[in-house]
Amino acid sequence: MKIKYLSLILFGVSILTGVAQAASSGRQEMNRFIDSLMAGMTLEEKVGQTNLLTWDGSLQTGATKSKGVSEKIARGVVGGLFNVGSLEERIDIQRYALCSSRLGIPLLFGQDVIHGHRTIFPIPLGLACSWDMELVERTARAAADEASSEGIDWVFSPMVDIVRDPRWGRVAESSGEDPYLGSCIAAAMVKGYQRGDLTRPDAVMACVKHFGLYGAGEGGRDYDAVDMSLNRMYQVYLPPYRAAVDAGVGSVMTSFNDINGVPATANKWLLTDLLRTQWGFDGLVVSDYTSVGELSNHGLGNLRQVAARALAAGLDMDMVSEGVYKHLKECVESGAITMQDIDRACRRVLEAKYRLGLFADPFVRLRERAADRKQAACLALEAARKSAVLLKNDGVLPLKKNAKVALVGPFADSKYDLFGTWVLAGNSNEVITVKDGIARYTRDLYYTPGAIVTDNPDLARVIRYDIQGYGDPEQLLSEALAAARDADVVVAVMGETSGMSGESASMTDIGLQKTQRRLLEALVEVGKEVVLVLVNGRPMTLEWEDQNCNAILEAWAPGVQGGNAIADILFGAYNPSGKLAISFPVNVGQIPIYYSTKPTGRPYVPYGKYTAGYIDCLNEPLYPFGYGLNYSPVEYSDIRVDRYAGAGCLSVRATLTNKGNLQTTETVQLYIGDPVASISRPKKELKSFKKIGLEPGESKDIEFSVTENDLKFYNERLEYGWEPGDFVFEIGPDSKNTISVRFKIEKFGDAN
Ligand code: NOJ
Repeated sequence: MKIKYLSLILFGVSILTGVAQAASSGRQEMNRFIDSLMAGMTLEEKVGQTNLLTWDGSLQTGATKSKGVSEKIARGVVGGLFNVGSLEERIDIQRYALCSSRLGIPLLFGQDVIHGHRTIFPIPLGLACSWDMELVERTARAAADEASSEGIDWVFSPMVDIVRDPRWGRVAESSGEDPYLGSCIAAAMVKGYQRGDLTRPDAVMACVKHFGLYGAGEGGRDYDAVDMSLNRMYQVYLPPYRAAVDAGVGSVMTSFNDINGVPATANKWLLTDLLRTQWGFDGLVVSDYTSVGELSNHGLGNLRQVAARALAAGLDMDMVSEGVYKHLKECVESGAITMQDIDRACRRVLEAKYRLGLFADPFVRLRERAADRKQAACLALEAARKSAVLLKNDGVLPLKKNAKVALVGPFADSKYDLFGTWVLAGNSNEVITVKDGIARYTRDLYYTPGAIVTDNPDLARVIRYDIQGYGDPEQLLSEALAAARDADVVVAVMGETSGMSGESASMTDIGLQKTQRRLLEALVEVGKEVVLVLVNGRPMTLEWEDQNCNAILEAWAPGVQGGNAIADILFGAYNPSGKLAISFPVNVGQIPIYYSTKPTGRPYVPYGKYTAGYIDCLNEPLYPFGYGLNYSPVEYSDIRVDRYAGAGCLSVRATLTNKGNLQTTETVQLYIGDPVASISRPKKELKSFKKIGLEPGESKDIEFSVTENDLKFYNERLEYGWEPGDFVFEIGPDSKNTISVRFKIEKFGDAN
């Protein structure tokens, strides 16, 4: 690419004069600046701003990629690029855009920074299990720091889709099943990325996705249809997007699915009536990868028709399809799109650039700046420790230092798979493997993989896994069994490769692959204690493992410091504190599965005929939402409600006692049920949670303030409010094992 440095300087001086001041001031100045810029733009240039394109080497997550991009940049018809390789490339491209195009409008650089940029943190589902909002915010801030230091202005995160079907591979990118927890995480991530001031060189614009309801695709299949009642939509699926909007998110990405028959990307109700009018969102709306073009596959017409419809529905930026741009003439001549829509979309793209400080300084994030990678590595360790969930422990954990360990399983010495899905800039050489981590605690360590990940050839092809490359399966197995016989304890590290969850990774069998299960069964047969460590991206079906292993640690795809974190937990240097952000089903037949079920007219009785249950399995999950053990059991007692807590609130309290002999941190959860109301309400809903530290033997009271807001719900007419009457307050270590009290509330704020 030829760079015209001189013209760049001249251009910079002429076009940007007076703009620096504008960038730092308010909306009016922004409007004035954009008005005058747009006054000089041609129709083609305006529409060009709505084009978000890929670059050579960009990750391609759809059938098409952008063509002739350099030439389009020079014509001034590209608004931004995403997933562009390196800082150097971005610098070159920005220079080129500034000096080769007529108006020299800076480009916006987006990227899928999902759980860290260079420093990879646990996958979002893992991080959600920390229930630590301050930690979540810090990881987003660290990601922003690293990404912005390499010229990225905009990250396609957070993904806040509620997921109640673990067959969907993108559950790994989500915060799980619960709207309250999901909303807290959405807000924390937006704050972390945007840092309260988008013009900061170390801040990036967040993009909440995928609006909306993408997590509710039929059968857990990616990109599939969604059909949902308005009540469930408002009560459960929409709140996390709303929380991101309320936290000031700069952009929203539309989803692939339809809502009430109209795909989100062309859904006027969703993009304009709800998002803009009801929620007051004033940022940028971008499509997902070719989701404009895909509207044709949904059956809405040809590209010209669907692009016009998407724009009119409220879409501002088109990722890859270039729908309106390609058919501009016909669209305008036929009246399919109005100048008003074009102006609006162009303005929103320019506003995003303005807010990001790009008009004041197009190189604001393109200057050499070293992010604090050391601090990020410490944070990655903290995050991986706090994300891991101890699912079972019969007392085998923590292991004794210098125990003789047989370390087996296909992920015991794996690097890349500890990253999980969506890693564009992380370097797997930096990963601490489980083997490296455990070697810090014992020299008596024998490692052998024992089995390959899968022998399913179809799956292996899709996830690009080499079935052949690991030697003879019988040989692998016999080495592992020999190691087990010779050891004090077996640590088996099993689960999923990074490609087995994430986008386009839906599965019908979410148990351990047969190869791994066979190894685990043989190890259990040996008779030594077996600790199963799971490295994976989704809830798995683990009934057999729960019955037969001595301990199970769900480590998720834990990121760059995963091996250290896992070893710290196994050997007791860190007392596990993670709690599940999603229920684990006993089997696939229980899906969809979640804790906040509604009552039925025929209340469930285990195996009871003519009641709302199965006759071959319980309704309960294997591990419920909110669940997670630690090494020091905590007892809950004495739940009570105090009406005199202060104006407009009452308090719910309980006493917690650490019955063990280790310091522990407990995530205490408050659930509220509304047993009598004008509509049938879920039996319970998470309304608050708090972390509390307890020394061995220590007792502490925990107090939650409850206000009217905690009791509100959408009624039949979708009005949001609360109804006086009885409420059930539950406090506990998870959604199932709670202590509860029933209490009547007529009104708030008086001292009756
Ligand atoms: C498709 C995915 O659905 C979305 O999450 C991602 O941000 C875009 N591709 C861009 O890579």
